[in-house]
Amino acid sequence: MVRLPYLTALTTLFSYGLLFAFGQLRDFFRKLIDWTKSKDLKGYAPICLGLEDFYTRRLYLRIQDCFGRPIASAPDAWFDVVERYSNDNNKTLHRTSNTTKCLNLGSYNYLGFAAADEYCTPHVIESLRKYSPGTCSVRVDGGTTKLHTELEELVARFVGKPAAILFGMGYVTNSAIIPALIGKGGLIISDSLNHNSIVNGARGSGATVRVFQHNNPSHLEEVLREQIAEGQPRTHRPWKKIIVIVEGIYSMEGELCKLPEIIAVCKKYKAYTYLDEAHSIGAVGKSGRGVCELLGVDPADVDIMMGTFTKSFGSCGGYIAASKEIIQYLKYTCPAHLYATSMSPPAVQQVISAIKIILGEDGSNRGAQKLARIRENSNFFRSELQKMGFEVLGDNDSPVMPIMLYNPAKIPAFSRECLRQNVAVVTVAFPATPLLLARARICISASHSREDLIKGLEVISKVGDLVGIKYFPAEPPKYEQDRKKLE
Ligand SMILES: Cc1ncc(COP(=O)(O)O)c(C=O)c1O
Ligand SMILES: *[C@@H]1O[C@H](CO)[C@@H](O)[C@H](O)[C@H]1NC(C)=O
Ligand SMILES: *[C@@H]1O[C@H](CO)[C@@H](O)[C@H](O)[C@H]1NC(C)=O
Repeated sequence: MVRLPYLTALTTLFSYGLLFAFGQLRDFFRKLIDWTKSKDLKGYAPICLGLEDFYTRRLYLRIQDCFGRPIASAPDAWFDVVERYSNDNNKTLHRTSNTTKCLNLGSYNYLGFAAADEYCTPHVIESLRKYSPGTCSVRVDGGTTKLHTELEELVARFVGKPAAILFGMGYVTNSAIIPALIGKGGLIISDSLNHNSIVNGARGSGATVRVFQHNNPSHLEEVLREQIAEGQPRTHRPWKKIIVIVEGIYSMEGELCKLPEIIAVCKKYKAYTYLDEAHSIGAVGKSGRGVCELLGVDPADVDIMMGTFTKSFGSCGGYIAASKEIIQYLKYTCPAHLYATSMSPPAVQQVISAIKIILGEDGSNRGAQKLARIRENSNFFRSELQKMGFEVLGDNDSPVMPIMLYNPAKIPAFSRECLRQNVAVVTVAFPATPLLLARARICISASHSREDLIKGLEVISKVGDLVGIKYFPAEPPKYEQDRKKLE
């Protein structure tokens, strides 16, 4: 839970108010100037309109150098950030030929598979030679290689479901599958902080969408009871089906889903459960099998398990794992399966190799070591940040840890100052988070060494003092002693 201090809330609101007021004022003068300059209205309505456009121009563009920084290497523990400059107050940015080596605290490279790997990379190169980068065909035409079927079986076995189906993109997995599973007359009950791909999938399905308070099983029960009693809008007929959608680890919060409690509620009311494990599959659980394993949930109790290959596996694409009947049904009906080119074979091979390492089927214990490392690294980093007095969201064991910034001025200040000291962090603000709850989001990797983490902590601590985001100061940090021990 966010513990937004009262004064911080006030100053944050005030800052946004100020930005908004000045932005509006500038827009007003802009319009005035444009109006006096030209009268040749072409009769078209402007394509970009409204508050979001205003937000982009007057707020986002002022700090756009903190976002979308180009990278010139693999997203390993350290990576090369391309230097940029601007001649017009950061309105347009230009790349230089220089890069800066920075500690990477932003990529979802949880197990470290996103960089060259002694087992994955040779296999991927071999598959590239054999199959080429693209299949140039959809799955039901010529786009199903041996690798695709192998990965479907492997994913099913890995997550503990009878069958699985692959998609070329994680985002599309949600946004195309949800409409294939449910439509008009159905009810989707979605966590209030679910990912945009789920939100768009739910909206596009035509089903009625109700939202329950983030990670709150008792509110879920309340909503379910109310909706079942009410039935469909107007007709009050019973819902055709009900699907409850949650995430394993919430990507902006670092929080673990209260899955056992949520499943108990769903069972009680005969609602299906849909679990998005984008950030949890491979990253948590003793053998990397995600939140079910971590929280002691039988995968048989989750009806539809969704995940992506873009985080722990260092590849691209997504999957759905479910009963044989559901997967068969999706293969016959889902447009993203029938009409989209299949996953790139080397990307498929990358996931196969990564899962084999995680399962120990590569003939080494590197998978187990990586899983132990990500857990140790995450818990060390989180506890040190908390000791320093930062407001850190999320749960132990989660490699995602948001540090609250709140104030809009602190977003660029934190991001730029960290980068200046060779630490690359991701900052997130509205519309990805609520307006007042801007944050920096740290993602820890198994490929970070203890020295890397200590370097990151030192810089974040210094910058945190500078920017004034240690909202809950506690005891002095212990990492200095750790550093001495290392030396
Ligand atoms: C919870 C969740 N679901 C789905 C996705 C989309 O996956 P992809 O980035 O692989 O398209 C993301 C991406 O970050 C996510 O966080
Ligand atoms: C533009 O970006 C640079 C570095 O990213 C920053 O130091 C500078 O203050 C920014 N300029 C403005 C006018 O915001
Ligand atoms: C690259 O970095 C060097 C050393 O910091 C600097 O002298 C040079 O001007 C930079 N080049 C560009 C294109 O910015």
